[in-house]
Amino acid sequence: MNEDIIWHSQNITKKKREILLNQRPCIIWFTGLSGSGKSTLANAIEMELFKKGIKTCLLDGDNIRHGLNKDLGFSEVDRVENIRRIGEVAKLFVDAGIIALTAFISPFKSDRQIAKSLVKYDEFIEVFVNTPLEVCENRDPKGLYEKARNGDIKNFTGIDSPYEAPKEPHIEIKTDELDINQSVDKIISYLMKYGYIKGTENDYAI
Ligand code: ADX
Repeated sequence: MNEDIIWHSQNITKKKREILLNQRPCIIWFTGLSGSGKSTLANAIEMELFKKGIKTCLLDGDNIRHGLNKDLGFSEVDRVENIRRIGEVAKLFVDAGIIALTAFISPFKSDRQIAKSLVKYDEFIEVFVNTPLEVCENRDPKGLYEKARNGDIKNFTGIDSPYEAPKEPHIEIKTDELDINQSVDKIISYLMKYGYIKGTENDYAI
């Protein structure tokens, strides 16, 4: 970074926004294979939070790659840049007092670690959507696994590009053990337990 660029501090602090919005901002970072259910789960959680008037935003890999990150592909370098930008954008939302949900494969541990390091330790919640590769491949909602197996897509995560599973996620969702409602409950309970949102669990029942 150019040393002539000087940080300008702002009058409205995160704390002031937190009080105004009556919520504790954070990043809920979903990671998992393509087809694992990240977007579905993130959408369901956002819906529950929205119903309670909580201000959120949802950054989703496929959608962001239509806009902000449309210049990026799936090489290792591009994936690193993809996650770097999302970490920075999510941080901006946290600064604005918002609960940011991100749904990206984010296959590399080091990139997730960088995203985590951008905010305070208790402002980053890593959710591992743990769905076995065979299940994702069977679902194959976009037909991409088939293409990858046929060699029509290169660097496909889980096939010919690695996925580094989190060893100590804050929350692990095993989608072969929990259905969508149970998964949403687990995450909402966590948010309440640690004071990100207020209310009783019944307020959030689907
Ligand atoms: S990440 O690896 O850089 O975090 P991201 O979440 O943005 O990936 O995008 C993943 C989505 O892009 C997948 O759900 C899938 O629909 C699509 N996709 C297209 N090509 C690939 C590929 N080579 N590997 C993984 N996903 C791909």
